[in-house]
Parts: sequence; C-alpha cells; structure tokens
Amino acid sequence: MSTSPNVPIVAPSLLAANHGRLAEGCLAAVAAGQTWLHLDIMDGHFVPNLSFGPQVLADLRPLCGLFFDTHLMLANPDKYVEAFARAGAQQISIHIEPEYPVAETLARIRGLGLKCGIALKPGTPAAAVEPLLGKVDNVLVMTVEPGFGGQKFDHAMLPKIAQFAQWRAERKLAYRIEVDGGVDDETGLLCKAQGADTFVCGTAFYHAPDRRAFAARLENG
Ligand code: DX5
Ligand code: ZN
Repeated sequence: MSTSPNVPIVAPSLLAANHGRLAEGCLAAVAAGQTWLHLDIMDGHFVPNLSFGPQVLADLRPLCGLFFDTHLMLANPDKYVEAFARAGAQQISIHIEPEYPVAETLARIRGLGLKCGIALKPGTPAAAVEPLLGKVDNVLVMTVEPGFGGQKFDHAMLPKIAQFAQWRAERKLAYRIEVDGGVDDETGLLCKAQGADTFVCGTAFYHAPDRRAFAARLENG
C-alpha cells in the first residue's frame, strides 16, 4: 500500500523510444492514456551519453498535451533552464552532484513558472539534498547510475525512498518522489510501498505488449 499523499503517475521515458521516430514515441504515451512524458537530457560530461536537446521538446510540444517532465543530466544545468522552459518543459529536475548554484537554479526554474526538482545519483546520500526539500516540487531518486536506459534496478535505493517519504510526512511537505531507472511493474511497486509516487519507465513501458495495462498495474497496484 502506498504511503504517498500524491496520485501515482507513470512517466514514460522517451529515451527508450526510437530516436528516429520520437514523435511516435511521444504519441505512444498519449495513446496509452498517460499524462506525463519524461525527457532525459544528457551532455556526455555529467553522464557518458548524449540524448536530445530543447529543439526536440519544442517540436514535440505542439503534438500533445503531456506534462514534459525534464531531467537535466548536465554538468551545468543552470545554463539551460531558460532554453528548456521556452521549449515547453513543465518540470525541470536538476542534479545535486555538479558544482553550480543549485538553490538559485531551483528558484529560477520556479520563477519561470515551472515545477522544480532535485535529482540524486545512487551513490549520493539522501542527506545531501535534505536542506533543499522545502524548495522543491519533486525529488528524483535515481535507481540506476544515470546515463543509459535498460539497466538493472538497484534495490539498495529502497531505504532512500523511505527516508524521503518520512521527511515529507514529518515536515508536512508535498514534493513528489520520482524513481528513475529499471522501474517496471514489479520494482515500481516496491518503490511505491516505500512512498514513491512517480515512476519513470523507459524500457518497461515502450517494450510492454499492452502499455496502458502496464501503466495501470503500476499506478493502481
Ligand atoms: C538513466 C535514464 C533512465 C531512463 C529510464 O539516465 O534516466 O533511467 O530514464 O530507463 P529504463 O526505464 O529503461 O531503465
Ligand atoms: Zn531520467
């Protein structure tokens, strides 16, 4: 049973779609009745992979009404928040690990009228982002090392999710707890039981024989 105060949401990760047909990947999320689309932005520096940039969001924006949940895996995310906001992002989550003005950037994201989130890698303790919890709408717990889709879920992240759920309840905060990496209708339910309410699903969603049924198992399970 979820201990989350937030409505559970599956966020299909476009990273797992065919990059030569990203519009189809976006519309597949619509066809499956989803409301969010997770967009993994990678620079080949903070993570050893490249994905796509603001132009992709801008070109997908008029095709759908999906909530563009944008995950900046960038060494300097502070340099790109305006570009992604202009392109149509509605939430921007930035990582705590790189050296840049994190709190100021979170405030700037909110100042642009977007939801803001703080993301942390598996090796980063929950305490690293504790001082920011009152300033964010989302905590993005990476359950794989960021950079590539299709990796194996790291069960050692479950206590970290529970810690964020405990702080949220104790402090009467309302941030969402998002999990990202190796999340499917089995590992996702383990996360949900610890208090997660937002489930980034790349491989598991796009490879599901029935995407709508997959998402329903996770959102209603
Ligand atoms: C890692 C990416 C992936 C992706 C989801 O940097 O953030 O976690 O969104 O990938 P799957 O669901 O295929 O593990
Ligand atoms: Zn992501």
